[in-house]
Amino acid sequence: MSPSIKDVAEHAGVSVGTVSNVLNHPERVSRSTRDAVLTAITTLGFVRNSQAAQLRAGTNRSIGLIVLDMANPFFHYVARGVEDVADELGYAVVLCNSDEQVHRENRYLQVLEEQRVRGVLITPVEVDSERLDALRRRGTPAVLVDRHDPRVNCCSVAVDDVAGGTLAGEHLLERGHRRIAYYTGPLTLSQCADRLTGLRHAVEAAGLDPDEVIDVVELRALNARTAYETACTRFADGVAATAAFCANDLMALGVLRGALNSGHRVPDDVMIVGYDDIEFAADAAVPLTSISQPTQQIGRAAAQLLAEECDHPDTHAHQQIMFKPELVVRESTGG
Ligand code: RIB
Repeated sequence: MSPSIKDVAEHAGVSVGTVSNVLNHPERVSRSTRDAVLTAITTLGFVRNSQAAQLRAGTNRSIGLIVLDMANPFFHYVARGVEDVADELGYAVVLCNSDEQVHRENRYLQVLEEQRVRGVLITPVEVDSERLDALRRRGTPAVLVDRHDPRVNCCSVAVDDVAGGTLAGEHLLERGHRRIAYYTGPLTLSQCADRLTGLRHAVEAAGLDPDEVIDVVELRALNARTAYETACTRFADGVAATAAFCANDLMALGVLRGALNSGHRVPDDVMIVGYDDIEFAADAAVPLTSISQPTQQIGRAAAQLLAEECDHPDTHAHQQIMFKPELVVRESTGG
């Protein structure tokens, strides 16, 4: 069994209170006593139970971050932004992957609340305002990440995905395409639905019929493998459009590989636009045109909003931060 603070006190010949002071207020203890206690801690291999101390103090020096898919580089950069701010504030980040499953998300929310984290940053599978309100009422504030929902009474940080879809649509229409496949994950995810809305806006603004121009290819997950397999089938069946707008870069990389493996040239036969502008987009077999999101800024802003709410709960006013996406043109649409 690991040594207790009482064992350290006995070994150093001091009181438990003196050991506690060495750990929490070393300035209150003489150097000789501090050295004796630190020697006992090292000799016995004592590790403080910060959980108990934090529970007594009602605070915890960690925040939870629940993302949809840790395999998606988009969330790596978001998490990096969160961690940069958490580190500046002296917090640790507890990272959870819901894998786009509600039951996993709910389990992580319960675990984080039981661990008494200071707050939770979440990209929810489904926005459930009652659940987040109840969490806050019990003392655990939450901030929506990569999500904007006016129905929810909390801070949020997102990118204008409708504008992002419009940028992609305008670009492909300007390149002369009149048939565009929209490869997407579940349209229950608001970012997937918003990007389609933006694409439809671009087509309508061009005086065209979205139902004629857009072929929605809704898949069960936003990953490269699923998109690759579907693209191969569509190219083999001769139903693939001459342009593909993908809800994220992982899907776009899958469609790119499917097009090339099916003997199609990119961009000559098929043009492809992704979303996120992850690090690998520029290094793809055919550098990928993508809609860029300020991912680390999203993470930083969300963590700063949560810290502000935790530190000033009585004066805090919820904020909804919305960043603008940008079109980054590369060879997959002609450079
Ligand atoms: O989580 C799926 C997608 O939504 C990510 O690739 C990113 O685009 C996010 O907004």
